[in-house]
Amino acid sequence: MTIVRPERPGDVSVIRDLLASCFPTNGEARLVDALRGADRLPVSLVADVGGVIVGYVAFSPVSSAKGAKGVGLGPIAVADQHRCQGIAGMLVREGMRACRKAGFSWAVVLGEPAYYSRFGFHPASDCGLADEYGGGDAFQVVELSPGGLPVDDGVVRYASEFALLE
Ligand SMILES: CC(C)(COP(=O)(O)OP(=O)(O)OC[C@H]1O[C@@H](n2cnc3c(N)ncnc32)[C@H](O)[C@@H]1OP(=O)(O)O)[C@@H](O)C(=O)NCCC(=O)NCCS
Repeated sequence: MTIVRPERPGDVSVIRDLLASCFPTNGEARLVDALRGADRLPVSLVADVGGVIVGYVAFSPVSSAKGAKGVGLGPIAVADQHRCQGIAGMLVREGMRACRKAGFSWAVVLGEPAYYSRFGFHPASDCGLADEYGGGDAFQVVELSPGGLPVDDGVVRYASEFALLE
């Protein structure tokens, strides 16, 4: 059985190794370490199968040009041999729930629209939001609580630690 739960202190090195194995470089692993070190990882969840961590998702703070505070989803990763079983979907849904509970009213993601639309994400340009990376329709937003979406708020910036990915 797969359970999704918040990361614990003892999970840190396993999360680092999982991210390093799922992406071409260790940039994402270093990013998550840096976000955690800067206390900018309000939601950090693992997927645990029988005590083994096989998936991970991070949500970190973002803010719009007009100062609205939300969260950004990513990175997300699932170990190769556990893919296409809905584990990333569980991480996204549970993560959105945890962000809502933590008081965030909107979330963004830079990712494949065909995938993230199933969770309610839609192009952020629909409501006058843009990203700093020229993501176009890949930059998506979802409302986490009614009326929580900022409108015409301009460029949404991720935490400064994301510069590690450039
Ligand atoms: C992306 C990733 C997290 C998906 O994990 P997963 O547990 O296999 O995802 P799920 O089982 O929830 O979803 C699988 C479904 O989503 C689709 N899907 C997953 N990622 C997708 C993507 N980037 N683009 C389009 N479709 C995608 C799959 O084709 C599959 O479709 P189906 O449900 O219609 O069969 C995993 O492939 C991974 O770790 N990849 C490497 C790291 C990465 O690229 N992360 C995303 C960027 S931060």
